[in-house]
Amino acid sequence: MKLTHLLVLFLIVSMTAALAVPAFAADGATTYKAKCAMCHGPDGQGKIGPALKGTSLSADDITALLTKGNDAKKAPHKKAISGLSDEDAKAVADYVKTLK
Ligand code: HEC
Repeated sequence: MKLTHLLVLFLIVSMTAALAVPAFAADGATTYKAKCAMCHGPDGQGKIGPALKGTSLSADDITALLTKGNDAKKAPHKKAISGLSDEDAKAVADYVKTLK
C-alpha cells in the first residue's frame, strides 16, 4: 500500500469517528448563556424578559416557542429564535426546566 493510500484511509477513519461523536452536540446550558441569559438572566431570574426559573410551561411549550415563535406576543419571540436547530431548542428548553 502506498503512503498516500494510508493517508486517505486514515482521513476516512478519523472523519467517521468524528461523525459518530457529534462535535457540536446541542448543549442547553451553553445555548442559554449565549442566546437567553442577556434577557432572562444567567440564572433565569428575569431581566428584560420574564423570570424563567420554576416556569409552569413544559419543555415542549418552550421548544415550540423557540422554534415557531408566539405571534400573539412581542419580540423577540414573535418569530423563531434564529440560529437555533430543533435539537438546540429542545436542549435549552430542558435546561430552562432545571433552573430553580
Ligand atoms: C431580546 C431579549 C430576549 C431573548 C434574547 C430571549 N428572550 Fe425569552 N422572552 C423575552 C421577553 C420580553 C418575553 C416576554 C414576552 C413574550 O412572551 O413574548 C420572553 C418570554 C419567554 C418565555 C415565556 C415565559 C412565560 O412565562 O410566558 C420563554 C419560555 C422564553 N422567553 C424563553 C427564552 C429562551 C429559552 C431564550 C433563549 C433561546 C430566550 N427566551 C431569549 C425576551 C427575550
